[in-house]
Amino acid sequence: MMDRYAVIGNPIAHSKSPRIHAAFAAAEQQALHYEALLAPLDGFVVTVDTFRQQDGRGLNVTVPFKLEAFDYARQHGTLTARAELAGAVNTLRFDGVQVLGDNTDGVGLVHDLQHNLACPLSGKRVLLLGAGGAARGALLPLWQAQPSALWIANRTADKAVQLARLLNQPAVEGCGYPDLDGQRFDVVINASSSSLGAETLPLPAGLFAPDALAYDMMYADTPTAFLQQARSLGASRIADGLGMLLEQAAEAFLLWRGVRPDTAPVRSLLRPTPLWMN
Ligand code: ATR
Repeated sequence: MMDRYAVIGNPIAHSKSPRIHAAFAAAEQQALHYEALLAPLDGFVVTVDTFRQQDGRGLNVTVPFKLEAFDYARQHGTLTARAELAGAVNTLRFDGVQVLGDNTDGVGLVHDLQHNLACPLSGKRVLLLGAGGAARGALLPLWQAQPSALWIANRTADKAVQLARLLNQPAVEGCGYPDLDGQRFDVVINASSSSLGAETLPLPAGLFAPDALAYDMMYADTPTAFLQQARSLGASRIADGLGMLLEQAAEAFLLWRGVRPDTAPVRSLLRPTPLWMN
């Protein structure tokens, strides 16, 4: 029987993960079965337990179950350091009775920025917008890429301040949007859910340094509201989170199968024309 993997969420029908992992498996000549698993909103644990009893080897976890997956791994197994700091799990690996909970979102984002977008973060001033789960997941991998400054700005400033305290570093600052006046960044990452509602953020003029990159963790067929706003504020490059989606998937595949697939062929399958521009 082939090893079984799945993405678990609610809703799940829209997920690109089955397509991505099927392409990875074909490219890496790995015999595995990957499906989409719809769990009832109050039935995450039961669905995971059943999947494991049926020889499930690993899960990608998406909305709204990343916190429950964190609790599941903490209770039944171990967590990686990055999952611990993220407070959320997006990848579960099952080896018999053993459970490992990981979070590959942040490392996927950093890989997309540094490798695919050729934007090294070392020595750069980086700004993260938002202080919810998405921002928290990105925090440690962003810091490990050694920016000279890492700011977190949020509508509710106190949440950004709390998040910055998790890292406890002088170069990491949490603030509200008004505190961004007069500040300039090389990389600005939108981790808020503002683009979902097509809302713009209260960003000051002069926020983007020359050659700055604006990155939205959300992705869509056309540039998101944040990316359009960033462009009008002078960001010279824009990118959305499709690359992050692919890279977090590649990291999960690595955790499960021991090989990290090349994401480029799948990217051109999902988006033949690049969204970002120079
Ligand atoms: P996620 O898991 O996607 O991060 P979340 O934990 O609900 O979702 O967090 C959503 C984030 O988007 C928060 O930082 C939220 O700001 P608040 O903490 O002030 O609520 C931010 N957000 C959502 N809509 C926004 C908007 N229209 N303008 C600015 N920030 C917004």
